[in-house]
Amino acid sequence: EQPQVSAVRGHAITFTGDPFFDDGAFVDVPDGLIVSEGGRITAFGSFDDTRHAVPDGVEVTHYPDHLICAGFIDTHIHYVQTGIIGAFGSQLIDWLNHYTFIEEQNFADRAHADDVARRYFDELLRNGTTTAVTFCAVYPESVDAFFEESVRRGTRMVGGKVLMDRNAPDHLLDTAQSGYDESKELIARWHGNGRQMYAITPRFAPTSTPEQLEAAGTLWAESPGTFVHTHVSENTGEIAWVRSLFPDRAGYLDVYDHYGLLGRRSVLAHGVHLTDRERARVAETGSAVAHCPTSNLFLGSGLFHVHDAKDPKRPMHVGLGTDVGAGTSFSLLATMNEAYKVAELNNYPMNAIKSFYLATLGGAEALDLADDIGSLAVGKEADFVVLDPNATPLLSYRSGRAKTTEELMFVLSIMADDRSVAATYVAGAIAHAREEDRSGPAD
Ligand code: GUN
Ligand code: ZN
Repeated sequence: EQPQVSAVRGHAITFTGDPFFDDGAFVDVPDGLIVSEGGRITAFGSFDDTRHAVPDGVEVTHYPDHLICAGFIDTHIHYVQTGIIGAFGSQLIDWLNHYTFIEEQNFADRAHADDVARRYFDELLRNGTTTAVTFCAVYPESVDAFFEESVRRGTRMVGGKVLMDRNAPDHLLDTAQSGYDESKELIARWHGNGRQMYAITPRFAPTSTPEQLEAAGTLWAESPGTFVHTHVSENTGEIAWVRSLFPDRAGYLDVYDHYGLLGRRSVLAHGVHLTDRERARVAETGSAVAHCPTSNLFLGSGLFHVHDAKDPKRPMHVGLGTDVGAGTSFSLLATMNEAYKVAELNNYPMNAIKSFYLATLGGAEALDLADDIGSLAVGKEADFVVLDPNATPLLSYRSGRAKTTEELMFVLSIMADDRSVAATYVAGAIAHAREEDRSGPAD
């Protein structure tokens, strides 16, 4: 049973704006208190200033020597690829043909979809991820499996049925009409059903005919508040293929633009090789790019330019994505680690304030969900993660030498992963507690 009211005390960090542009956006509360009621935060501040807001009889859960931040937001991931993470030896198109398109056919089986959905949510929550923009498979049942599991966990999720009607095995293909009809039905069933939100999900330009992209644009225009979720400019071979398939379009991004698939709540994975003009168009339309560094390195796709994306002259909305199963970890902390290294290769120092922002409020703003999630603030949904800087001997030794909160955050962003997630709270209730914490102290 979920408690109606909860109170959690510890070192809290959060954001009131975008630290790429605002030096005052970072908020550090060394002894903080988060009170929530009915799934939303009703009080947040220093323990001394906020303790009066804890109703009589409610016990305060205290996490000394931990760091509490808003739940991580994964802006791009495939639940149906959980079972093929870490598949050896190829770049994007070969990887799709050899591994992905084989495994996704298994999701015609509802029992398999249910099993993987359970494992997927277990992984998300043990990694502190409370919202994930998720590709399902082409089969509508795979979407039901995903959202039914999300309802059981109480999470705010975005997901949808893949649309693909060419250039893949027959068994994985829908048609422009069936894809439209099935997506429309799924929107009616799931979009706005509690915390669930729907994304119209054309896989990427090469696997959809012009007719299917047209139908997707029509459906999006008919379905207010829904998302578009796809991939763009991930791999140079892919980009050349799109040019040959759509010779009348100015480039890859223009294919989506032409069919009305750019705008607020359009989420484009990767964007590694976007041109200056394309980046300007992403910014102008309010579309978002999901930066997926573990995937971009694993598939040898290239290096995303976060400093260009955040050019103050035309800032793009950017979130972090794991892109499992091409991505190699469910952890947004591990993703921050790789994002830092990718930025270093571009000669740009990504500090921990920016990394944690991208994984929380930056993701929420990219998704146009910042009214509900992404930071610790009164009125927001009470999704947050409790991080343990003492999770391993080396992490504990190194964290102990950190002189500032920012240094501690940087060490976590480089060294930590699911071992440091002591607890994950969803709508004010505990949704994951690390095994060793559940069984109590050993001594
Ligand atoms: N492009 C089209 N489909 C996929 C996919 O499943 N993963 C990645 N990383 N890129 C894609
Ligand atoms: Zn992907």
